[in-house]
Amino acid sequence: MTGYRNPLRHRAWRLVLVASVLVLAACGTEYPQTTFRPVTDFGEVINGLFYNTTAWTMGILLIVEAVLVYILIRFRARPGAPEPEHIHGNTLVEIVWTVIPAIIVALIAIPAVGAIFELQRPRDEGAFVVDVIGHQWWWEFRYPELPGVATANEMHVPVGRMIYLNMRSADVIHSFWIPRIGGKRDVNPVPATREGEPERLNHLQFLINQAGAYDGQCAEYCGDSHAIMRMRVIAHEPDDFQRWLAAYRTPPAPPADSLAAHGMNVFMRSPCIACHTVAGTSAIGRIGPDLTFMGDRWTVGAGVEDNGIDALARWITNPGAVKPGARMPGAHTEGGGMPPTGLSDADVRAVAAYLHSLRADAVQPGAPAEAVHEHTDDSQPAPDAPR
Ligand code: CUA
Repeated sequence: MTGYRNPLRHRAWRLVLVASVLVLAACGTEYPQTTFRPVTDFGEVINGLFYNTTAWTMGILLIVEAVLVYILIRFRARPGAPEPEHIHGNTLVEIVWTVIPAIIVALIAIPAVGAIFELQRPRDEGAFVVDVIGHQWWWEFRYPELPGVATANEMHVPVGRMIYLNMRSADVIHSFWIPRIGGKRDVNPVPATREGEPERLNHLQFLINQAGAYDGQCAEYCGDSHAIMRMRVIAHEPDDFQRWLAAYRTPPAPPADSLAAHGMNVFMRSPCIACHTVAGTSAIGRIGPDLTFMGDRWTVGAGVEDNGIDALARWITNPGAVKPGARMPGAHTEGGGMPPTGLSDADVRAVAAYLHSLRADAVQPGAPAEAVHEHTDDSQPAPDAPR
């Protein structure tokens, strides 16, 4: 005997059990892309609206369900009970059920409209500006205040200072969305503007109040690899940000590891440098992602794989096999209209080791900044045209 005479009821109970486990699983806190733990003023405003609306709707749900259950029980059919009285129209009831929802809608709409204005405020005078450029399928970040500094897929900003994004796309429409920061804003190809007309960019402005790394991803379908167009905001304490910046501006020391050192030579003589930059070296290409601290990045290919020498080697060998549509040539495959790089397997591995050695903590921020050009002129070949 199973204890369940009705197999349908047995199945229903199992379904309820599974559903409860799934619902409870959502109560954990380890969700990097949650909107419930905002770290910006912007995210808090949006979250406040969400809770306001949810509170009203939950209250309405409870009241309606309670009245419904009362009516179902109180007026249920009983043997011998007379037919209930039929009512046609009741002015008082109709006024009440029109006025109450109108008041609730106003209590939701007023803060919502206020939030729209608050989130579209003009640029703060002391804001740290970042140019956000969406590409198929990676993110480029430039920092007008810091000439020459660029990052790919990871945006570095200081906490405690307003951040103002100038957002556009180099190709199709993408959408910048980092849930804990808030927002979700389209980045559009910038239409041609007339002389003297301001560029039509989209903007986001927010103040991050907690150092950390916050993940997001493209939120507008943009082609083959839309789902692997991820990004991360790294919010540093002001001192850490200065250290990171100093490291960026310091010429990288030649890799101690012999494989990586060989990889550096291969890289600097390869067509790679026509598209990629490694700050402080002769690689100054601006077409592809900046590779300055590639070894620090959390993933390869904007979220395809965890970073590592193997993953980098797979990527350099054949990017299209790792990320559909990737616009970069492989060792033996064309990509983005460019011919194969022709690197041997051993050279690919060496270049991967070199890129993995590029880390902010591997440079010595004490070195004088003027040394950048001397260093590169002495030790590296001049940039070649792409072969
Ligand atoms: Cu970029 Cu979807």
